Amino acid sequence: MPTTFADLDREIRQKETAGVLARLGRKYLVFSGKGGVGKTTISANLAWHLARSGQRVGLLDIDLHGPDLAGALYLDAQLTADDRGRLLPIEAIPGLWVLTIQHLLTDESQAVMWRGPRKMRAIAQFLTDTAWPELDYFLIDSPPGTGDETLTIIQQIKDLTALVVVTGHRLAIADVSKAISCLNTSKTRILGLVENQSILICPECGQNIQIHDPENVAALAQKTGLKVLGRLPYDPKAARLAEKVQKPLVEACPQSPLSQGIKELAQSL
Ligand SMILES: Nc1ncnc2c1ncn2[C@@H]1O[C@H](COP(=O)(O)OP(=O)(O)O)[C@@H](O)[C@H]1O
Ligand SMILES: [Mg+2]
Repeated sequence: MPTTFADLDREIRQKETAGVLARLGRKYLVFSGKGGVGKTTISANLAWHLARSGQRVGLLDIDLHGPDLAGALYLDAQLTADDRGRLLPIEAIPGLWVLTIQHLLTDESQAVMWRGPRKMRAIAQFLTDTAWPELDYFLIDSPPGTGDETLTIIQQIKDLTALVVVTGHRLAIADVSKAISCLNTSKTRILGLVENQSILICPECGQNIQIHDPENVAALAQKTGLKVLGRLPYDPKAARLAEKVQKPLVEACPQSPLSQGIKELAQSL
């Protein structure tokens, strides 16, 4: 029973949030302790592929300081609001709605210089003051580590499941290991690990080259008790082609081993 106006206000907000979240379908956080391991590439291409397969997908970028989703999807747009003041996510292709702070910035090189409370408010607003349609999947691309943005999302979405992206590099393993313990502490469900850049596919001869010791990710899986959901190759040829035609990988080169790996990963969601 609320005793003050502040309690009452909080209770109303919580009910509103629960109502909005219930319409977003299955919610996945694409997460890692490390930057540059492929979170944005994986979340953008998973979302694109799911939408092309007939699912209704929301894709939210909570990387406020290094937002990349618009770039990964080659999606140039400006965010607008509806008559109730709610943000309108951009429909990138039929069935895929994207919200990234990149679409709020008027200048591409503009930096977001926000601190804790402002970031937490922004994330809450992206969830609940946004006109998300009814969805099957809601994917969240996160910044590296366990900062305000990720903690806010974990706190707000109770039925969130994490996909942990890792590479076999020793430093990535160490950072990801810490990030997993944060998820465990906050009792966030983890679906498993995604090993990105597991091998390099040589763009010249097509041969597979082992980049890191394959034992590294296997050892992390064993230590954390997590399953390796997929191993995605480092595929510079596919990445270059996608860049050339300005489309996400799964659209630009659907037959490439990287795109195939992402599509197989989508089956575990
Ligand atoms: N498997 C891959 N094959 C080729 N390029 C990749 C692969 N994974 C990531 N990249 C490239 O590496 C860079 C970093 O990936 P990104 O998805 O932005 O990482 P993060 O979001 O974790 O910081 C990007 O330029 C991306 O295109
Ligand atoms: Mg990123």
